[in-house]
Amino acid sequence: MSLITPGRNVVLIGLMGAGKSTVGRILAKRLGRPFADTDKLVERAAKASIPEIFEREGERGFRRLEAAAVRNVAALRGQVIAVGGGAVLDPANVTQLRATGDLVLLDADPKDLAQRTRRRGRPLLDGVEDREARLLQLRSARAAAYTSAAAHVIDSSGRSPDEIADAVLLWASRQPGLLSRDEPVA
Ligand code: S3P
Repeated sequence: MSLITPGRNVVLIGLMGAGKSTVGRILAKRLGRPFADTDKLVERAAKASIPEIFEREGERGFRRLEAAAVRNVAALRGQVIAVGGGAVLDPANVTQLRATGDLVLLDADPKDLAQRTRRRGRPLLDGVEDREARLLQLRSARAAAYTSAAAHVIDSSGRSPDEIADAVLLWASRQPGLLSRDEPVA
């Protein structure tokens, strides 16, 4: 992290399987920034996995914990942040994240998303027979919230995490105040 003025947060948003956590880790490493993932922060705070939280407290309970994680993480600058796919459906979360960061939407074809979400652990997809159809439905239902929250959209379909990170960095390097002067973009 820069000792001069930390840049604004680079915040990755988008559906499950869009690559937010993988790309976020790569970006953080390249920029020398800390990486925060709200799903992980929620799990740490609740001392439980996301499926366990959904089971115990329902989606509402999870969203409450997620909002607290967003508040905490948005209090600092100079980070790369990945937020859970539903976080920006709450306008209060968007306001918090925008106060200290710029939001980048990683979009992808539902076919790609379905491929990348094969492992269990996502309550909104676990047990769903046709994941691609479910993701297509979620993508349409969330499109307006995602695009209005985002300062920039990157199509991640058919691209490797490194290529997606390149695209984010190229865009970020052109945004005043997003990266600090001493942060490498290559
Ligand atoms: C959710 C996405 C998940 C996690 C939770 C709900 C959603 O995060 O927060 O299962 O509503 O889209 P990822 O997008 O990191 O998988």
